[in-house]
Amino acid sequence: MARISVIGTGYLGVTHAACMASLGHDVVALDVDEAKVTSLAAGKVPFHEPGLPELLQESLASGKINFTTSWVDLAAHADVHFLCVGTPQSPESPAADLSQIQSAIRSLAPLLTKPCLIVGKSTVPVGTAQWISDYLVANSPAGNDVHLVWNPEFLREGFAVQDTLHPDRIVLGIKNETDVAVLTDIYATALSGDTPLVVTDYATAELVKVAANAFLATKISFINAFAYLADEVGADVGTLADAIGHDTRIGRRFLNAGIGFGGGCLPKDIRALRARATELGLSEHFEFLKNVDEVNKSRRDYVFALAIRNLGSITGKTIAILGAAFKPDSDDIRDSPALDIALLLAKGGANVRLHDPVALPQVRGRNLPILAVENVEEVFDGADLVLHLTEWKLYRELDLQSISERVANKVIIDGRNCLDLALWSSAGWQVTYLGKPGSQSAL
Ligand code: UGA
Repeated sequence: MARISVIGTGYLGVTHAACMASLGHDVVALDVDEAKVTSLAAGKVPFHEPGLPELLQESLASGKINFTTSWVDLAAHADVHFLCVGTPQSPESPAADLSQIQSAIRSLAPLLTKPCLIVGKSTVPVGTAQWISDYLVANSPAGNDVHLVWNPEFLREGFAVQDTLHPDRIVLGIKNETDVAVLTDIYATALSGDTPLVVTDYATAELVKVAANAFLATKISFINAFAYLADEVGADVGTLADAIGHDTRIGRRFLNAGIGFGGGCLPKDIRALRARATELGLSEHFEFLKNVDEVNKSRRDYVFALAIRNLGSITGKTIAILGAAFKPDSDDIRDSPALDIALLLAKGGANVRLHDPVALPQVRGRNLPILAVENVEEVFDGADLVLHLTEWKLYRELDLQSISERVANKVIIDGRNCLDLALWSSAGWQVTYLGKPGSQSAL
């Protein structure tokens, strides 16, 4: 079993560390945030991810995982260091902010006195891996014996454990053929199943990750553009997606129209990719990603406009919102379409009541002019309009009888196109979908 370190205990880092420990590797995970390290060492995961707290607690109990803030301990412990720090959008530009990568590499390099492998998992602009490799060789006592592999991560929030233990593919960007064996040993369990292995160069490995996210974002904006068309001509974008999705060259996944994509990955990754392509003189060829971003953001304004169309004026009206997270099974509200829409409505003068099964602490932390309501039934109290914006399962299982008695108007906009029309209509609700004929037109 390998002696591993994981640098950065965000989403990616904690999941990777706990999963590697569960496979039997000896893991030390580092973060510069002392409070976070203390909390993780006590078995508390600072975000919502199904199955992860249990996995972390098991790994702590077996002694396979430890947390530290000490770079010295980290360097002494491991032969393989996984770089899992965040690369958010820069505050000043659409490009990625690489300061966490730079700071981690600068802290680690002088402590690398023995041969070791650094494995980059963070999402980075193409060219970063080569820079890191050169920096480590030039600044580590072990020099040329410090090798770098680029191994992008494709996990989805909400499925992070499953995606880490059973990834769709493992991509290794390498410079030295000998490094492949170290990682195929670490990932032996997945590779002994049907996970394919792709071995390539640094630049290709870096690009695989951003290409995958750009493709997924493009699929979503593609179908959302058709949702506009469908609304205009009375067509059904859901049936359209089903029909084109039967073509295996297209596939049905990521063709759910609605309020679009958000989160800490897709939006910032398409912007960073455009920024990098522009630096490389290729801006015109990546112009489509600007459009992908714009179509996506326009969905939020569209739902805001739909609310106004429904209510006449929203000033002083009570609007109940179901969902704040950018997607279900997550408490992540970064760039969340649901929360953005809630905010647009609140700023427009509506009294916004918002429910989410797990993300309310995050919402409260932002001090927004929105009432966070813990009890899902209470969020409906006095509502002139309801918006369904994050497709949590519990919203599809509501007691329609009971909530119908709480609202002022039985009118709902389904921003995720997944509520059962027959069920809601039979309880007397008027449902508006996005790009899909609903009961509104039938009434
Ligand atoms: C995304 C990728 O799917 C992962 O493969 C990748 O590893 C990760 O980014 C990353 O770069 O770290 P994630 O951000 O967890 O994962 O979320 P997704 O499941 O991709 O969903 C993104 C957004 O698209 C959500 O807001 C979701 O509601 C929206 N979406 C998804 C749609 O609007 N329609 C769809 O058909 C599918």
